[in-house]
Amino acid sequence: MSEEKEENFHCKIILVGDSGVGKTSIIGRYTKNYNENEKSTIGASYSSKNEKIDDYTISFDIWDTAGQERYKSVNQIFYKEAYICIMVYDITKKNTFQSIKDYWHKAVKENSSNEIIFGVAGNKIDLYEEEEVDQNGVQEYCDSIGAIFRTTSAKANTYIDDFFFELGKKFVNSDLFKRIEPEVKYKKTNKNKNKKLEKGHKNNKKKFC
Ligand code: GTP
Repeated sequence: MSEEKEENFHCKIILVGDSGVGKTSIIGRYTKNYNENEKSTIGASYSSKNEKIDDYTISFDIWDTAGQERYKSVNQIFYKEAYICIMVYDITKKNTFQSIKDYWHKAVKENSSNEIIFGVAGNKIDLYEEEEVDQNGVQEYCDSIGAIFRTTSAKANTYIDDFFFELGKKFVNSDLFKRIEPEVKYKKTNKNKNKKLEKGHKNNKKKFC
């Protein structure tokens, strides 16, 4: 019997943006719980997923915050200790991008204690014919705040996994990551037992030849 050391780095991610832009749907796609008829989030909800990035195991602790006006101030408590923030707007609704500029970015910056990494998701790109927001303007804004800008579609599953991975990679390469202590677990392994099982398996094969 031997022990294998497992190191797990926790990374808290928050998704913010106006109600209906698709935050829950994006998380649903990423965690394989997508629901076409998603109801508006009440308060906030949590889910998690592990990613292997550059040989590190990163445990994404994902907080979905409700975009409705009445939850805005109470949800600021979830911004604390977040390392990544994805600000989502709906490409078919100009005001949802304006809200990122006027409210969401400032609210997260003022209430998070870390050098948080920002991403901006222009969601519902499957509805590109109805696009109201000029992508060049979004890119300019993202450059000014150091955020990564990508267009996504939770419905068509476009650039969802890749966006989480890209932001996770930026996190792993940041100074912040160097200061984070991993959660360490020891897993018992029985290498001899595995060998016996392999042997048994081979014998079984022989019987059927
Ligand atoms: P709140 O919980 O109220 O803050 O909303 P939310 O931002 O979590 O939005 P939600 O994921 O609940 O999605 C709102 C509606 O938009 C739902 O009817 C979704 O099916 C729809 N939706 C989400 N993403 C997409 C997308 O990429 N394309 C299209 N066409 N519809 C989408």
